[in-house]
Amino acid sequence: MDADDPLVSGRYANFDVSKPNVARVYDAMLGGKDNFAADREFVADVLRSAPMAPLGAVTNRHFLRRVVQYLVIEAGVTQFIDLGSGLPTQGNASEVAHQFNPHARVVHVDNDPVVYTHSKALLADAATTEIILGDVRRPAEILTDPVVRSMIDFAQPVGLLFFAVLHHVEDGDHPERAVAEFRAAVPGGSYLAISSLRLPGPDLPELRAVTLEGEKAHSGPLGSMRWREDEEIRSWFGDWELIAPGLVPLGSWRTPVPVNTPYPELQHSFSGGVARKR
Ligand SMILES: C[S@@+](CC[C@H](N)C(=O)[O-])C[C@H]1O[C@@H](n2cnc3c(N)ncnc32)[C@H](O)[C@@H]1O
Repeated sequence: MDADDPLVSGRYANFDVSKPNVARVYDAMLGGKDNFAADREFVADVLRSAPMAPLGAVTNRHFLRRVVQYLVIEAGVTQFIDLGSGLPTQGNASEVAHQFNPHARVVHVDNDPVVYTHSKALLADAATTEIILGDVRRPAEILTDPVVRSMIDFAQPVGLLFFAVLHHVEDGDHPERAVAEFRAAVPGGSYLAISSLRLPGPDLPELRAVTLEGEKAHSGPLGSMRWREDEEIRSWFGDWELIAPGLVPLGSWRTPVPVNTPYPELQHSFSGGVARKR
């Protein structure tokens, strides 16, 4: 995006495009066009210390695709709440869901007004897709939102999608409580999908140390970024049944052949899984 483009400056007049922003940086890493110079400069800076970061974003999008495909086709889920949905670029959750079931209902939720405005414009005609401005740290507001209540039948299984969003929630904002509130709001047969940045285990001390350094260096302009221990990420699934293969590197989740990348930082720093409420 060009900040001087009249369409862009009109639509985003109230937003500060001189600072990088999570959704647009992620878009830039995916090779998208919905980003500004400040976002691209931020990515260039990240690349200097973490050249594999964009591959992490792509791997996450591939994981999202396999998960949503699994939930629609194999689990038969017909309605989704997509938390921290990001810019509605190619391959987002509603696009994938509709590819396999055009009648699936998807509510995207993001706390970024840029994402909301952009999504609203793009999704204007889709009766089966909605976007609301909402913050995963305040589940009650999302769960009682009139748009959510009109789109989602809470008596039927729901797919709760938390792709690459919980690592943006600080410890003090209790991501575990937020996810637990969402888990409690949906009936048996519902599914919970999570991908989140993971701290490499103590068996990889060097990578663990480098990751912790990276966390300090890159948390500033984008707000918080937390690489968490496996046990903490696993705890977010509560007592739900983890679907095989469990909580694993994103490239190993239900791929015909596990993608063992030669890049240890990618292999060990991003985990995901899916669980079912009994
Ligand atoms: C890295 S993007 C992930 C986009 C998409 N879920 C995916 O995996 O392709 C993270 C998104 O989470 C949003 N986000 C961050 N913190 C949030 C919060 N507390 N509540 C709602 N959305 C949040 C950001 O605005 C951004 O759009």
